[in-house]
Amino acid sequence: MKYQIPRGTYDILPEQSYKWQKIITAFRELAAAYGYEEISTPIFEQAALFERSSGETSDVVKKEMYRFTDQKGREFALRPEGTAPVARAYLENHLDIGSAVRKLYYIGPMFRYDRPQAGRYRQFYQYGIEFIGSNHPFYDAEVISILWWYLKSLGLTKLRLELNSVGCAACAKDYDKALQDFFRPHVDELCPDCKLRLELKPRRLLDCKVKSCKEIAQSAPSQLDYLDESCRDHFASTQKMLELMNVPFTINPRIVRGLDYYTNTAFEVIYEDLGAQNSLAGGGRYNGLLEQIGGKSIPAIGFAGGFERILLALEEGKATLGQEPVPDVFVVALGNPARDLILPYINELRRAGIRTEYDPDKNSFKAQLKAADNRKARFALIVGEDEVAGRRFVLKNLRSKEQQILPWEPFGDIVTFLRT
Ligand code: HAM
Repeated sequence: MKYQIPRGTYDILPEQSYKWQKIITAFRELAAAYGYEEISTPIFEQAALFERSSGETSDVVKKEMYRFTDQKGREFALRPEGTAPVARAYLENHLDIGSAVRKLYYIGPMFRYDRPQAGRYRQFYQYGIEFIGSNHPFYDAEVISILWWYLKSLGLTKLRLELNSVGCAACAKDYDKALQDFFRPHVDELCPDCKLRLELKPRRLLDCKVKSCKEIAQSAPSQLDYLDESCRDHFASTQKMLELMNVPFTINPRIVRGLDYYTNTAFEVIYEDLGAQNSLAGGGRYNGLLEQIGGKSIPAIGFAGGFERILLALEEGKATLGQEPVPDVFVVALGNPARDLILPYINELRRAGIRTEYDPDKNSFKAQLKAADNRKARFALIVGEDEVAGRRFVLKNLRSKEQQILPWEPFGDIVTFLRT
């Protein structure tokens, strides 16, 4: 019996893991610089949490959720996204007490049952920000600028930030009505999904990939013409703040987010040359969500993106994340006395943060040096009989092939030398 990885998932192999570590660390550091703290929630939650927040008619809930019933018949789901769990944890742990606003970030796997393709997986890793507690447009711009500067800092160039406002619940109602009025005369030309959308969530029609629906949608009314005064002001102030923060954006009134909880600001960062899955990250305000899941009315805004798409975009743009780390030093010990002399130092070097390797299964000088080459080590630290007698060692630079003889003591000199 040969076992296989589940479709739509992948292994992160050691050759790639340094890239993951780099992009994860960069996100953590930037989020911390903006004053955000990490929050981790379970990878499964009550299924109803997602139904209530993302919307029962959303694709994420209707088609993509991994549901299961536990031994006591309770309905759970592997989390398809992180916003509702963070909002649940915020309410359950009373994170509103003590601090007017909470700045949270998370990193972790999400699960969606969808047709796998490049950039779309059934288990994927999101980085996300959730800011809870203020409706000030400053925070809209702050959250968006974290995303923008994060992606820029990784060396990505072909980025486009698209911004929209989907208005408050009242504006959205007017707009839905306008869309229904617009699409109804074309109902016979719509795909079966859009026929349903027309009644349930007319805005989703704007996002349909079917050619005939797309053609009709081209002349549909714009969301921006249906914003009331306060939503218009909020949108204008958000844009102003983004300009002040030097974050370039384009307005796209067609942005429809796939989840139901959005109000006002909605945004996505697109990487043009990434094929069908070219949205690197997306988010927006969700001023109604906390109340919807049982809390008080508390405004909030956030975003999430998939690390996989970042790596694909980096590859496409030929941006590097530096080199795969290699050993600083590979120890070559000839004979047991040399080995016995060097073993305590191997540990010393490692504890001093020097990447040090040694292969006890290889005896000959040639085999050990070959192993050092194979591992792409920077230096070989060679100890033979002469070196044991003279309490010194040979340090060979495996790039330039130069070598020098150095005394064991003081040990700190070796560490300093290898660190540079
Ligand atoms: P979302 O647009 O559904 O939003 O997902 C955000 C990002 O997650 C996408 O732009 C994409 O990079 C990545 N992503 C989504 N599905 C997949 C998949 N199947 N495979 C690989 N990557 C994927 C949310 O999840 C919201 N919770 C974002 C948010 C936070 N809104 C407010 N706060």
